[in-house]
Amino acid sequence: MLKAMERDRANRRIEELRHQIEHHRWRYYVLDSPEISDAQFDALMAELQALEEEYPDLVTLNSPTQRVGAPPVKEFGAVRHRLPLQSLDNAFTALDLRAFDKRVKRLLGEIPIEYACELKFDGLAVSLSYQGGHFSVGATRGDGTEGENISINLRTLKTIPLQLLPVDPPALLEVRGEVIMTYPDFETLNQERLSREEPPFANPRNAAAGSVRQQDSKITARRKLSFFPYSVGVVEGRTFSTHGEAMEYVWSAGFKQPPAFRLVPSVEDAIAFCQDWQARRGELPFGVDGAVLKVNVLALQERLGATSHSPRWAIAYKFPAAEEITQVQEITVYVGRTGTLTPVAVMTPVVIDGSTVSHASLHNEDEVRRKDVRLGDWVVVHKAGAVIPEILSVLTERRTGQEPSFVMPKDCPVCGAETLRLPGEAVTRCTNISCPAQVSERLLHFAAVMGMDGVGPAIIVALYKSELVKDVADLYRLSIDPMLKLERMGSVLATKLLGQIESSKNRPLRQLLTALGIDQVGWHVAELLTSKYHSIEDFFAVTEEDLQALSGIGPSIAKSVVVFFRQLQTRRLIDELRQAGLHLEEESPSKTGALPWQGKTFVFTGTLAGFTREQAEQIVKELGGEATSSVSSQTGFVVAGEKPGSKVDRAKKLGVCILKEEEFVAMLEDTKR
Ligand code: IVH
Repeated sequence: MLKAMERDRANRRIEELRHQIEHHRWRYYVLDSPEISDAQFDALMAELQALEEEYPDLVTLNSPTQRVGAPPVKEFGAVRHRLPLQSLDNAFTALDLRAFDKRVKRLLGEIPIEYACELKFDGLAVSLSYQGGHFSVGATRGDGTEGENISINLRTLKTIPLQLLPVDPPALLEVRGEVIMTYPDFETLNQERLSREEPPFANPRNAAAGSVRQQDSKITARRKLSFFPYSVGVVEGRTFSTHGEAMEYVWSAGFKQPPAFRLVPSVEDAIAFCQDWQARRGELPFGVDGAVLKVNVLALQERLGATSHSPRWAIAYKFPAAEEITQVQEITVYVGRTGTLTPVAVMTPVVIDGSTVSHASLHNEDEVRRKDVRLGDWVVVHKAGAVIPEILSVLTERRTGQEPSFVMPKDCPVCGAETLRLPGEAVTRCTNISCPAQVSERLLHFAAVMGMDGVGPAIIVALYKSELVKDVADLYRLSIDPMLKLERMGSVLATKLLGQIESSKNRPLRQLLTALGIDQVGWHVAELLTSKYHSIEDFFAVTEEDLQALSGIGPSIAKSVVVFFRQLQTRRLIDELRQAGLHLEEESPSKTGALPWQGKTFVFTGTLAGFTREQAEQIVKELGGEATSSVSSQTGFVVAGEKPGSKVDRAKKLGVCILKEEEFVAMLEDTKR
């Protein structure tokens, strides 16, 4: 009886907390105007988490605690759209828009038409259904009639309410809109991918689409995605008379209001809106590829109806692709990790689509010749896939005749050694394997792939110039005192870097193989290799034929691997890495018996200096332990970094052992003894 009452009380509190959390999520992520501090927000979440742990049967799919993602799925189910998700007709000029307006008026009789003007978001269209105010299904557009059920992924987006905010939601509401990724989040994601040797996404649209269709929703949860609503589909239990009114309701229910939405009384005002945003699109932190005009009155929309693929009451005005004209000031040559010389055009900076462009890769000698880019040329640049700057063409009519043609240097611009372009190859290489550019690029690559996030270009150059580090094994010989002699290096930073270097020793073999920078061996190839070979020693013994027997490994990768491991320097390097304590064998738990942290549960809170949360959790898992996100009496240790959240308070209350980061590192060290 008492138990039932307690449960009832918990249930009510859970409901209350979920509403409060959704409200504050809306204030923070949608309105950018939080009413409470992060710590207060964390406390609400912790309380909810604790209650849900106590009453697991009260956990619902739409609880804010579930936004972190769910177990991966093999494939998504299909969703039939009750109303098809059509596409839009395109207009490219003001004349096209006036023709659209004429057609609308011809069909409706010559009445004044109010238009809703919106941005055309460049992302992935999705439909979100709410039943009784609760998020029920989220689907892709698919072919317009049937899409994929990606609800588990969409639940992780902080700009999508899991329950609608007003107290009196309609029985059924379908909100349609676009999932997008902002430029800064896109750049960060691609940087991370590059550092892991994963292929970067070509543009934010692909990144958004790829993220939302992930089979592992935990990955979606980590990607920074936003949702902008642009229309309502099926509605039951509420009526709207205009599109504007429907959108006002949607925004008030907890969705993000886009930066531009205007109701205008004439097509001429709508044209002004389109032209204004065409000029100002660069001010937006995300990609738009046009503007959309919609007849505002829903009864008129209905009268206009639709063709088989698009409504007659709306039209998309497409912006021309963003490009700019600028001048080539210099063609420099960059030397990469494998000694490749890459010509790069340095141009007078211009702003394209909101970011400044000043460099464009010209890839290789043939490409410079093909485009015939010369020093002093005026060129048209754009951002390929809206991201990577590219020279489209040269304005030869602007030449003065004084522009010198590009010549690939005979000597390496960094070390002065001879350069070589082999017959039949497009690349020119520096022949000196000790070329500082190659060495520092290799070091940088190694540090990035091994997850030493703080060991960036400036630190590598400083370590290299001071001769503290000449190859990757030297990184593991670093100690604090000599590091302190480097410019701008304090003991806090040095300790942090040493912590990161130390924790990189535990990376799996696949990661080490990738980090070694063997030509043509990125993450994927390293995975193929380690699926068969579990120790670095195996690679000293394999032949090209052995490797080619693996699916996905062709003759050129096989050769590259065998040649790499045939080098005396490689043998020496691997021996040094072994001495430093690196992980050179893939250990399977069955081979090694019990892992040292089997049965131990860790919770991380606050910011750690030497690891990201994911890295720390990965280490715990590799050692057989478990990393969870909430503290319970079952938790073994709570590791508290900088600015720990309420989890520490909870740990104290439950008597769970709280570790400082140093203590965690010490425990880690112990496992190796
Ligand atoms: S309205 C029936 N409004 O553009 C009309 N669409 O070609 C439904 N889009 O796949 C679309 N921004 O994902 C509308 N403000 C906006 C939009 C928008 C982007 C996308 C939408 C659709 C495509 C239409």
